[in-house]
Amino acid sequence: MYDLPAIRKDFPLLEEFIYLDNAATTQTPVPAVKAMEEYFYKYAANHGRGAHRLARMTTDKYEDARETIASFLNTDVTGTVFTRNATESINMVAYGLQWHPGDHVIVSIVEHHSNLLPWLRLRDHGVEVTVVQANEEGVVAPEQIDLALKDNTRLVAVNHVTNVFGSIQDVRKITRIGHKNGAQVLIDASQSAGHMPLNIKELGMDFLVTPGHKGLLGPQGTGVLCLRDPDSIEPMYLGGGMVSSVSIDSYQIEASPARFEAGTPNIPGVIGLGRAVEYVRDTGIEDIEKHETILAKKAASLLAEIPQVQVYGPQNRAGVVSFNVRGMNPHDVAIILDQTRKICVRSGYHCAMPAIQSVGLKGTVRASFALYNTMEEVEALVETVSDIATLVA
Ligand SMILES: Cc1ncc(COP(=O)(O)O)c(C=O)c1O
Repeated sequence: MYDLPAIRKDFPLLEEFIYLDNAATTQTPVPAVKAMEEYFYKYAANHGRGAHRLARMTTDKYEDARETIASFLNTDVTGTVFTRNATESINMVAYGLQWHPGDHVIVSIVEHHSNLLPWLRLRDHGVEVTVVQANEEGVVAPEQIDLALKDNTRLVAVNHVTNVFGSIQDVRKITRIGHKNGAQVLIDASQSAGHMPLNIKELGMDFLVTPGHKGLLGPQGTGVLCLRDPDSIEPMYLGGGMVSSVSIDSYQIEASPARFEAGTPNIPGVIGLGRAVEYVRDTGIEDIEKHETILAKKAASLLAEIPQVQVYGPQNRAGVVSFNVRGMNPHDVAIILDQTRKICVRSGYHCAMPAIQSVGLKGTVRASFALYNTMEEVEALVETVSDIATLVA
C-alpha cells in the first residue's frame, strides 16, 4: 500500500512548505541524509585508493550505490558512471564521441538546454544538427525523427519527459528508429528516472542520462551516465583513479566505469544517492508513477477550469504542469504563491527557451510533483491560483 503519511515523515521540510518544484530538484529523504551523515562521521575516506579499512569501506559503499542504481535501471554495472549532473553526463557523450565533418545529429525542439547546446556546438566542427519540431503539447512524433534520419546520422538525442510540458516521448520507438539507420540514441531521462519504470536493457538506448537530484531523490551534485557500450566513447577527463599505468611516454586507461571517473568523485553524494534509490525502489516505482500522474492530471484539469488560466501540455502527462494566468507575468504568480501559502513552483523559461518559444510563449508557471505530494496540496495550489486570477479579472 502507498503509505503517503509515512513517506511524508521522511521529508521534514514538507511540514512547512508546499513543495511543487520537483522538476528542478526534489527533497532528499531522511534515510539518504543519514547515510551521508554516517559516511562523514563513521568512515569518511577516499574511494578506490587505499588499503586501510576506511578507504575499503568507502569504496565498498560507493560501489554498492553503483550496483543499486544499475539494478534499478536494469543496466550493467560496468556501464554505470557517476557524474555531477545530467548536464555533465550529456557533455561527456558529446565530447567522448569522435566527430567528423559531415556527421549528423538529430535533437528535438523541446529539449532542456543541457540536451541542446552540447549538440549545437558541434556545428563548429562541421557536424550538421537537425532540430525536429514537436506538436504544441510538446510531443515529438517518432515519424519526425524517421524523416530527419540520413545516411550520416550518428546520434539521436531526445528527452524522455519534457521539463516544460510534462509530455512523454515514445523513447522505445525513437530508439528503434535511430538504430534502424545505425545511429546511436541518447535519452535524457532527467524527468523520468525515479518517476516511472525505466528498463534500459529492454528499451535499448545507447546512452541514458539522469541527474541524481530529481526523481531519484539524491543530493545535488550527483548524476548518472549509463552506457550500453562503454568503449563507444572516450573519457572527457583524464587524471587520477582512471589509469592502470602511467609513464612519460604512454598511459593505460582502466576499463569502465573507472575510465570515466577521473579524480575524487562526490563520495558522500553518491552514497546518499544509492540510499535514495533504494528508497524509491522500496516505495515502488509503479505506485510512484500512478500517484504523481493522478496529482498532475487533477492539477491540470482544475487549473484549466479557471477562466483566466491557460494550461499547456498533453492530457497524458507525467508529473509536470505548466500554466499561465492571462495578463500576469509567471514570476509574479510564483512570488504570490510563495508569499501567500508557501507554495514553491518554478517560473520562466525552465532552461528550455526554444521549447517555450516554439509555442509562442515567454515563460510559464510550472508545478511539478513527486512521490510525497498530496491532493490537498494540489487543491491549495488551485485555490491560490484562482485567487490570483481574480486580481486580473
Ligand atoms: C529534461 C532535463 N534535462 C536536463 C536537465 C539538467 O539537469 P542537471 O541540472 O542535473 O544537469 C534538466 C534539469 O532540469 C531537465 O529537466
